[in-house]
Amino acid sequence: MTVLITGGAGYIGSHCCVAFLQAGYDIVVVDNLSNSNRMSLERIEAITGQKIKCEIADIRNQDNLERILKAHNCEAVVHFAGLKAVGESTQIPLAYYENNVVGTHTLLSAMANSGVKQMIFSSSATVYGEPQFLPLTEDHPTSAVNPYGRTKLMIEEMLRDVAASDPQWRFGILRYFNPVGAHHSGQIGENPLGIPNNLMPFITQVADGRREQLAVFGNDYETRDGTGVRDYIHVTDLVEGHLRAHEVLASGSARSNCFAVNLGTGNGYSVLEMVKAFERASNKEIRFSFAPRRDGDVAECYANTELAEELLDWKAERDLDAMCRDTWNWVCKNPRGYEAPST
Ligand code: NAD
Ligand code: UFG
Repeated sequence: MTVLITGGAGYIGSHCCVAFLQAGYDIVVVDNLSNSNRMSLERIEAITGQKIKCEIADIRNQDNLERILKAHNCEAVVHFAGLKAVGESTQIPLAYYENNVVGTHTLLSAMANSGVKQMIFSSSATVYGEPQFLPLTEDHPTSAVNPYGRTKLMIEEMLRDVAASDPQWRFGILRYFNPVGAHHSGQIGENPLGIPNNLMPFITQVADGRREQLAVFGNDYETRDGTGVRDYIHVTDLVEGHLRAHEVLASGSARSNCFAVNLGTGNGYSVLEMVKAFERASNKEIRFSFAPRRDGDVAECYANTELAEELLDWKAERDLDAMCRDTWNWVCKNPRGYEAPST
């Protein structure tokens, strides 16, 4: 079976390509390289020993997508392509609505015209807004506090409407908690451009000397040490969840033709616990100072994982030490990201 992977050159998409290739699927990547480097595709080939088909293309070009879907006889789609920076989404909201919402609409239209009716979609725990209870179950009310989150909610609604219109469509909406880590080979990993917004990439840049110190956003939350708590999940576990979701959808064994499921570990770690874990893994001091809370941040966010276990027969296996160790391995082997050969 050939699976189209949009955004396959990006952080999570590249790991997903490895997982699907190693599971025996043929894949075709569609990526416009707006937030990635084509070198990641060569690394996927090096890890798997397989050639991948890649189309440098934009998901907003429907005719081209239809050509690609038909030319490669694609039977399913895993859809990662989109913009993902929360802060940026408040500055350039139209770019977010266009890339994420219009892009997904265009992709769905191309799929409909090509008879491809199965998609896994990258959603986010951000759709739960301010938690009303913890751990977060999939039936927790949804809300969004920024344009990025609203694009995810709108796409989820769009998928539910399409699924309701025709039972042949099959959608797996996967709500990620906080993906971190890298492939254990150190060949692919997260490669943010500019100043990282997220905790783990920022910590790595303090560890390798690119940044002076980490600003810890808030130490007065009602958490065990006052800093924000999140459910960090190893990217390898995350993409294995995609593989399982794909298999469940393809087998037709899902209870409904559109499900939303959390992909997290169920464990919450604070910012200070992350700092300590990274110090252990890297043997480096992570200098930090406390700064005011960041707008829009919640105190705590972690998943209830029961539905994923029941529906997908999947559970995250890698612990925090593995997440930090694999991240550090990737950074040490690729101090300039994909810009220079891996050492
Ligand atoms: P990423 O930026 O590394 O990957 C996205 C890829 O999509 C990039 O390679 C980019 O070049 C490509 N892309 C963007 N717009 C495109 C377009 N119009 N046409 C074709 N390609 C396009 O991001 P990621 O961290 O791998 O995230 C993948 C998906 O998971 C995104 O949809 C993101 O919103 C979602 N997600 C990520 C996180 C996270 O913390 N990383 C959390 C929750 C959800
Ligand atoms: N943090 C710091 N300093 C930093 C960066 C982050 O203290 O420099 C703290 C944050 O305040 C938060 C925790 O580290 O308490 C995690 O922050 P991230 O930015 O890494 O992750 P978020 O949980 O804020 O957001 C991430 C993704 C969003 C997604 C959300 C839910 O970036 O896109 O998870 O899935 F919506």
